[in-house]
Amino acid sequence: MGRTLSATVLRSVGLWGRSRASHAAAERSVFTTRPRRTSTRDSGNMDLSNMRKDYKGDEQCFEESQLTSLDPIKQFGSWFDEATKCPAVGEANAMCLSTASKDGRPSARMVLLKGYSHQGFRFFTNYESRKGLELESNPFACLVFYWEPLNRQIRIEGTVERIPQHSSREYFHSRPRSSQIGAAVSRQSTPVPDRDYLRQKNAELEEKYRDAEVPMPDYWGGYVVRPYLMEFWQGQTNRLHDRIVFTRPAAGDRGPRAFERAAEDGWRFQRLAP
Ligand SMILES: Cc1cc2nc3c(=O)[nH]c(=O)nc-3n(C[C@H](O)[C@H](O)[C@H](O)COP(=O)(O)O)c2cc1C
Repeated sequence: MGRTLSATVLRSVGLWGRSRASHAAAERSVFTTRPRRTSTRDSGNMDLSNMRKDYKGDEQCFEESQLTSLDPIKQFGSWFDEATKCPAVGEANAMCLSTASKDGRPSARMVLLKGYSHQGFRFFTNYESRKGLELESNPFACLVFYWEPLNRQIRIEGTVERIPQHSSREYFHSRPRSSQIGAAVSRQSTPVPDRDYLRQKNAELEEKYRDAEVPMPDYWGGYVVRPYLMEFWQGQTNRLHDRIVFTRPAAGDRGPRAFERAAEDGWRFQRLAP
């Protein structure tokens, strides 16, 4: 995997970079209106209809000519690097992962991106968790990054595969010991009687592996999302938000569709209405 991310590295990156202006703009942007209650009698009913934020001006719009690359993985890298350098972005590698059951019922949760390359986007989890079971029966996923201070969103859709066990093991043993124990304690997404149960299990495993390597549980490991769609969204003040979407045509797909242009490495791209 080309790029491996660690939270420490990401947090340690400073302010200086080519996107200082956008950081300043990000820090200036505020909600124009605070949410208000519709009436004192109806105190549980929050009206959020006036809650909106100032985005960027038209002069800061995102034109096709401003794409860093016509390779969407490189374009992702460029935006990702800017997000990691923006102090107002707390965890640039936090992403929403959506999966669906075999019969199409969706579920979503946050996970951390742990590496990306032309092979795809990698994260780690429990293979027997809800997301794990859904991915086993329906190996498609959608990832969404939202970097609010930069007014940017990236959506990635792709097929999903487990990464080789030796790669998972390598990453597992690079994690802090407490996280390794945590993965062994938690049969993620299964009911437990109470917090004490987890506390006690944690203490037992701390003791068991006091002087030994924590073995990687066989139900734990990584997945890679191999993208066939990547959409870059840049918010604008005038609501003419920019959306540039790259798609990788399936085998046998006929020529370019309306307004579609050739990109790199077999990808195509087009602009979508906001
Ligand atoms: C910012 C953030 C990062 C997270 N990162 C991960 C992760 O990398 N892997 C993971 O399994 N769960 C992670 N979680 C917990 C998941 O959101 C979720 O609670 C858990 O994976 C169980 O999901 P499931 O029951 O839908 O399978 C993270 C939560 C947050 C808020």
